[in-house]
Amino acid sequence: MAVRFIEDLDISGKRTFIRVDFNVPMDKGQIVDDTRVRAALPTIRHAVSRGARVILASHLGRPRGKVNESMRLEAVGAKLAELLELEIIASNECVGDGVRKLAQDLRDGQILLLENLRFHEGETKNDPAFAEKLARVAEIYINDAFGTAHRAHASTQGMVSHFKEKGAGYLVRKELRFLGETLREPKRPFVALLGGAKVSDKIGVISSLLSKADSVIIGGAMAYTFLKARGDSVGRSLVEADRLRVAREVLDSLGDRKVDLLLPVDHVVADDMDAAEGQVVEHIPDGKMGLDIGPETVKLYAERIASARTVFWNGPMGVFEKDPFAAGTMAMARALADSKAVSVVGGGDSAAALQKSGLADKVSHISTGGGASLEFVEGKDLPGIVALEV
Ligand code: 3PG
Repeated sequence: MAVRFIEDLDISGKRTFIRVDFNVPMDKGQIVDDTRVRAALPTIRHAVSRGARVILASHLGRPRGKVNESMRLEAVGAKLAELLELEIIASNECVGDGVRKLAQDLRDGQILLLENLRFHEGETKNDPAFAEKLARVAEIYINDAFGTAHRAHASTQGMVSHFKEKGAGYLVRKELRFLGETLREPKRPFVALLGGAKVSDKIGVISSLLSKADSVIIGGAMAYTFLKARGDSVGRSLVEADRLRVAREVLDSLGDRKVDLLLPVDHVVADDMDAAEGQVVEHIPDGKMGLDIGPETVKLYAERIASARTVFWNGPMGVFEKDPFAAGTMAMARALADSKAVSVVGGGDSAAALQKSGLADKVSHISTGGGASLEFVEGKDLPGIVALEV
């Protein structure tokens, strides 16, 4: 089964529906980070240059099937017009007669932006009638919404069966290359650096990377669940009691594997995450919380990253949003930036940490997908990609 690429399709003069992921962080009507809008530009520019009649569709937030004024795509349309230096025709709906008329009237190279798909519950429910309505306005379907490819929704899956001509955009192709090909056949040593709060969110990807990577390095609050499972003292650190067993199973399985699993050897602790400063300890005392990896751990992890030829990073090492507990995460961003390895960063918090550190352009690829990149690295099929197969 193969997925065709937008360059292989004859889109000239055709109404081309492009599912993009414009689910950007917003604050008081303003876009906080426009990375996802920028990431869609190559596909949109290509479609315009080929004279396609472009129909863009995205979700924003989780409005749960109702119109939510703060989740309209208006600000995204304005940003897009500014970046492309082109007019964007905006619709305040994503299906219906008004949309059909706007789509019919499109001229070659013009762009129509539909309203938030999730204002209709048919989108997330993958309702066939809603999917058919979405499909009705176009002749060709392109998916460039990698960040949403793990969702089997009407615009990512349901509507796709209505199209003979379908394919992936530039962003999806790039994401599949880095997260798929690079990590499937990595140059070795291959080091995976995994952080974040919950073992439950990451256990799938940890298990999968334990059989692919040479070293799996654990940081963030999830490390405390592993440390407790090993019998270490963790004080009042965040621990998922219901994941202790699975953490123990992972640790017990290591003897049979070639992979190294690294856990923190020291910690930055405090009474709580609002503390003005932390204290470095080797063992977490009762009453204290671990909130970042300590300097010895930073050294150990950075050395491992420096020796790697492929690195995958997902999840912060501590509460990096707070200055006293940001050093570990920032040091890992620096280690990645300094390394000569092919470096792939799964989206979400690790991408935000890289942006914060000003080192984002020093890594090979930062995925625009949070959940999607993790599921893909874990080896799961992404419904939005499977739907494109011909
Ligand atoms: C994301 O931000 O991960 C994607 O846009 C998907 O959004 P969702 O988690 O609300 O489905």
